[in-house]
Amino acid sequence: MRVRMGEGTAVERRAARSASRTHPGGPAPRRGCGGGTTARDGGENGGENGGESVEDIQVRDPATEPGRTGAGPTGDPSAPMRRALQLAAEARPVAPPWPWVGCVLVRDGQVVGEGRTGPYPGGPHAEVAALTAAGPAARGATAYVTLEPCDHHGNTPPCTDALLAAGVAEVVVAQGDPDPRVAGRGLARLRAAGVAVRVGDGADAAAAMLAPYLHQRRTGRAYVVAKWASSLDGRVAGADGSARWITGPAARADAHRLRAASQAVVVGSGTVLADRPSLTVRDAPSPPRPPWRVVLDGRGRVPATGPLFDPELAPTLVCTTGAAPPERVAEWRRRGAQVEVVPAGPGGGVDLAEVLSRLAGRYGVVQAMVEGGPGVHAGLVRAGLVDRFVVYVAGALLGRDARPALDLAVPGLESAPRLVVVEAAVCGGDARLVLEPAPAAEPDGRP
Ligand SMILES: NC(=O)c1ccc[n+]([C@@H]2O[C@H](COP(=O)([O-])OP(=O)(O)OC[C@H]3O[C@@H](n4cnc5c(N)ncnc54)[C@H](OP(=O)(O)O)[C@@H]3O)[C@@H](O)[C@H]2O)c1
Repeated sequence: MRVRMGEGTAVERRAARSASRTHPGGPAPRRGCGGGTTARDGGENGGENGGESVEDIQVRDPATEPGRTGAGPTGDPSAPMRRALQLAAEARPVAPPWPWVGCVLVRDGQVVGEGRTGPYPGGPHAEVAALTAAGPAARGATAYVTLEPCDHHGNTPPCTDALLAAGVAEVVVAQGDPDPRVAGRGLARLRAAGVAVRVGDGADAAAAMLAPYLHQRRTGRAYVVAKWASSLDGRVAGADGSARWITGPAARADAHRLRAASQAVVVGSGTVLADRPSLTVRDAPSPPRPPWRVVLDGRGRVPATGPLFDPELAPTLVCTTGAAPPERVAEWRRRGAQVEVVPAGPGGGVDLAEVLSRLAGRYGVVQAMVEGGPGVHAGLVRAGLVDRFVVYVAGALLGRDARPALDLAVPGLESAPRLVVVEAAVCGGDARLVLEPAPAAEPDGRP
């Protein structure tokens, strides 16, 4: 078995490491899970604490380990860029599939306008929102923007046009936009028009905050957050099949905030058949559009019944293969579900990379939260497609006959997939661990 993990560019990996500080994947408490809204979690967790007592138990951040550069080459963001990053974080729940961006206009040392993206699809881009707020005061100002301004017509006209028309003198950008329609064109257009352009102020923080977006645009696939709840001995269902609930209310509410920060919640057919989940956002503020509920059912085993196929609750998408009986496919469609027929994967089921590409390309999914079960999680790990793991660990022991978290055969330590814990917190009576694929080891074994 070949297990490939940690794919992605060096920049993505650095961004992902920094992400341990800015939590791209979802809820981002500074202390424990369910912490209050902060500039760093950008309000996507709704500022709820749930009355739970929380405390950090350990944080091991690879970016700050000896031999690594914690702050990144660009150092701390300037004060206006810090504010722009805060605005960007506030846009996180409403902007996707657009990137969540913040913009601050400064003239003569004074902030004259601020803006953030969205809500999608009718809202303005951050630059336009800030220019509108500033009015004539934008002339001669410096615009601090967390992402390169767009230079193409989409749902809105190009932001470069708006910046030029307003007479902005300088544009400071934290991070380039890898979207092929932008990719340097925005900066080139501004420079060609005589606007001073600086890039890199707050680059690491912006890359960390936008990690799911940057990954989606660079790879064409949704950013994957694999989530499960397990006992201390790594079991996700009891020997008798019981699975509700392994963790307590605080951990479950935290997981709902993670759902709310995602545009798709994905499960395999085994979980649907065993648990009849509804996969809706409940114990968290609802996002403007509920996440897609995505079922991976290669053989058409899941009947179109139960809350998962209630279109009043949220939209449902079934990803299947040509092996599914046509009657079953027709039944899903009759119940209002979308159906994607994809090629079979190398180990059976659906081709997971293709599913993630379609989620990004056809359904505007920037972040997909995959809630299992063990079969689907193992398939994603084998394919090297997990970008982040969020695992809630309960103080319970379910024993050897209970279901392991992953259906993965690993012959020994040498071939074990390695992850790095980037965050650990107490969440009610449970622990919440956030892990990322470990960077590739050096030949001498050093990470
Ligand atoms: N505690 C937790 O966090 C948690 C979360 C979820 C589930 N669970 C538990 O997990 C158990 C279900 O486990 P499970 O492994 O059967 O669930 P699963 O991973 O949800 O479903 C596995 C099934 O998904 C389908 N599938 C489609 N494409 C796949 C692909 N590329 N790779 C892998 N599978 C693919 C396969 O069926 P086809 O070949 O028919 O397509 C496969 O048999 C239940 O007891 C449930 O309660 C626990």
